Amino acid sequence: MRIILDTDMAMGAPGSEIDDGFALALLLADDTFDVELVTSVNGNIDVESGTYLSVELLERLGRPEIPVVRGAAAPIVEPDRARSAPEEVRARFGHHKAAPGFAAAEIARRVLASPGEITIVAIGPLTNVAAAIALEPTVAGAVKEIVVMGGVFLGHTNVRRMPGEFNWWVDALAARAVLRSGAPVRLVGLDVTTKVRLTREHAATMAAGGRPFGEFAGECTIAWLDRLGREHPGDPEAGRSCAMHDPLAVAAISRPELLTWVPAHVDVVAADEVGRGVAITDLLAGHDAPPANATVATAVDVQAFMTYFLDRIAAL
Ligand code: RIB
Ligand code: CA
Repeated sequence: MRIILDTDMAMGAPGSEIDDGFALALLLADDTFDVELVTSVNGNIDVESGTYLSVELLERLGRPEIPVVRGAAAPIVEPDRARSAPEEVRARFGHHKAAPGFAAAEIARRVLASPGEITIVAIGPLTNVAAAIALEPTVAGAVKEIVVMGGVFLGHTNVRRMPGEFNWWVDALAARAVLRSGAPVRLVGLDVTTKVRLTREHAATMAAGGRPFGEFAGECTIAWLDRLGREHPGDPEAGRSCAMHDPLAVAAISRPELLTWVPAHVDVVAADEVGRGVAITDLLAGHDAPPANATVATAVDVQAFMTYFLDRIAAL
């Protein structure tokens, strides 16, 4: 299956979020997938760092031939929120070069050149994907599917600062544009992703497994859990385990039977106000329900996912 991965990659920067890195690793570990392009986007980390770290990780995983094209530096209508790479990241990884071009244009070009063939796996804010559709709206009809890690659909987070999910909160307008584009969209949100968790024990086993990626990934996981523990002292689980949000979006393609899916009409609050990024999920029960524009994951077989995920990662 031909894949473009759009990611806010942070794995490899000290103490940073790791799940984008595990998602890329899982894509490369499962020969169901043929990853032909990685595009970077502002999100977990600035886009410059995310670009370097994507190239670095592809090299580490033995796939330096997969091109990385740099994407949006800021949300779609907020260019003032662009950030640059921290000096230490640039010093360590700044020698990595992106392939020429811009992510949105390269996504549009490839999707239009192969109608119905390419699946976009979007595991960061949807800025690049929305921009690709804005450049050429027929992208929405030409893409095989857009599988998104984003949103929370059957509740909300009860967090005042960010009541929705991070990727949609960062660029709610982009999420809205993708949802309204008519593209076939599959949504894997916090309702399911927070249930699949990598623990310190998993990380230690990975690190001791004698494989170079496992050793690296295990160390990154411990550093990330240490940081979560420090930043959330009131939450004992924070330092013990972390959600594998983005890898679950990958498994949603290779192992869709591990999740429960419902059709829905999904929209998102996009104003720069208190509800920014909150998804409105109509489960189509009403007589006047709008047509479905997405398929939403509502439950996951945690054990089966963890077995699939850990086995594949251990083989790298
Ligand atoms: O809310 C989860 C998402 O934001 C994931 O894509 C993860 O990488 C995070 O930062
Ligand atoms: Ca991500």
